[in-house]
Amino acid sequence: MRKNTFISKEALTGSLKDYRVPNGIDLIARTDAFYDWQQERRQQTVWPYARTISSPPAANCEALSDANERLSGVNFGSQDYMSLASHPKVKQAAVDAIGKFGVHSAGSAALLGNTALSRELEQSLSEFVGGREIVLYPTGWAAGYGAIQGLVRPKDHIVMDILSHSCLQEGAKAATGNIQFNRHLDLRSVKSKLQRIRQQDSKNAILVVTESLFSMHSNTPDLKGLRELCDRYSAMLLVDCAHDLGCMGENGLGQLETQDMLDGADIIIGSFSKSFASNGGFVSVKTRAAAEYLRYYSATTTFSNAMSPAQAAAVLTAVEIIRSQEGKTLRRALLSNILKLRTDLSRAGYEVLGVASPIVPVHVGDEARGRIISKEMSAIGAIANLVEYPAVPLGQTRFRLQVMAQHTDRDIETIVTAFRTCMDMTYTPGDLKQAASRMKVENRRSSAA
Ligand SMILES: Cc1ncc(COP(=O)(O)O)c(C=O)c1O
Repeated sequence: MRKNTFISKEALTGSLKDYRVPNGIDLIARTDAFYDWQQERRQQTVWPYARTISSPPAANCEALSDANERLSGVNFGSQDYMSLASHPKVKQAAVDAIGKFGVHSAGSAALLGNTALSRELEQSLSEFVGGREIVLYPTGWAAGYGAIQGLVRPKDHIVMDILSHSCLQEGAKAATGNIQFNRHLDLRSVKSKLQRIRQQDSKNAILVVTESLFSMHSNTPDLKGLRELCDRYSAMLLVDCAHDLGCMGENGLGQLETQDMLDGADIIIGSFSKSFASNGGFVSVKTRAAAEYLRYYSATTTFSNAMSPAQAAAVLTAVEIIRSQEGKTLRRALLSNILKLRTDLSRAGYEVLGVASPIVPVHVGDEARGRIISKEMSAIGAIANLVEYPAVPLGQTRFRLQVMAQHTDRDIETIVTAFRTCMDMTYTPGDLKQAASRMKVENRRSSAA
């Protein structure tokens, strides 16, 4: 039975940042305040996180919300850009690997955790990225963190894009106190930081850190410009290619290929979780010495269990597909979906951010509105991830739609129609008091809970 509910002001305000640094002597009890706020949002069904998928992460899926509401419909919330997670050959490779090696690698790569499959994967990835050395990591996060922590030392310096992913920021913090953040994508800002560092220190290393595709904004740096600056100030360039490697560019090498910068990046970070159908990641460097050094000094590979045989097999097959004619066809399908989604949303009057990539960020604005729209979207069978402050600036809440090669025109039209339906709801942004009393939001899922 449908029932009307009001959404409380508490559930529509506040952010994760409010609870990041709780005070008090009791480490555990001081987490209560966050939980109370989360519970309020959960009970009001405006907590769109930690959903549980109960079908493959395909173009259409079934899921349960964190409050056990059933969701079912078109899926723009999974990251499987090349639609390889359900590819028969990838699934079969994982099954065969389990048959041959069992389910577990049972050791770190530094000890006995490698398998013939992970060795083959290193070789295959090396060919993919132009003959460079490859070090595998259990996750993409571990690769980003471990590359920086493994190579940078306390006297060295890091110049990092202000919007760099958490793994890069945490790796930097673990490595040195000398971290400078440059303005997002701003070469002038990078240059002035490098200049200042080199005026004072000509003896220690500098690492410039960026991403090839920033996932909250879908935008990319001028990699050639960064390379030139690195050369001028004797710095190294690290590019995290988590979101475009495998799925963008004629040969699947993303911005490194589009900007002719495959050789220009000193350190490449890859994640398998977006386009290669598995957990895992890698660091690619140009010398065997640097790769061997990472194997023993990069904590997240040295002291962490290696990828499982099934994961290595899935990624190995994914790389084969990505490098094949089928891969090209999938990338073309993906690009055509991306362009259609961006065009349809823009034509419907919405602000689509960034450039064409598998991530299509759609601006919503204030946090309360985003939460209400997200709730409504799931209720009508349109699954998409809400991104709110502090992941993006205050007042710049957005949906981060993630496109797959296997989305159909109909899927795209369905999500755009869902947007139209939910975004056009009567609501005055910023007027929370009114919103709380006026937003008689139908709890369409209350009977399913
Ligand atoms: C730029 C970047 N690096 C690394 C990661 C972490 O990758 P994984 O989720 O495979 O651990 C992500 C994940 O979203 C990312 O966006």
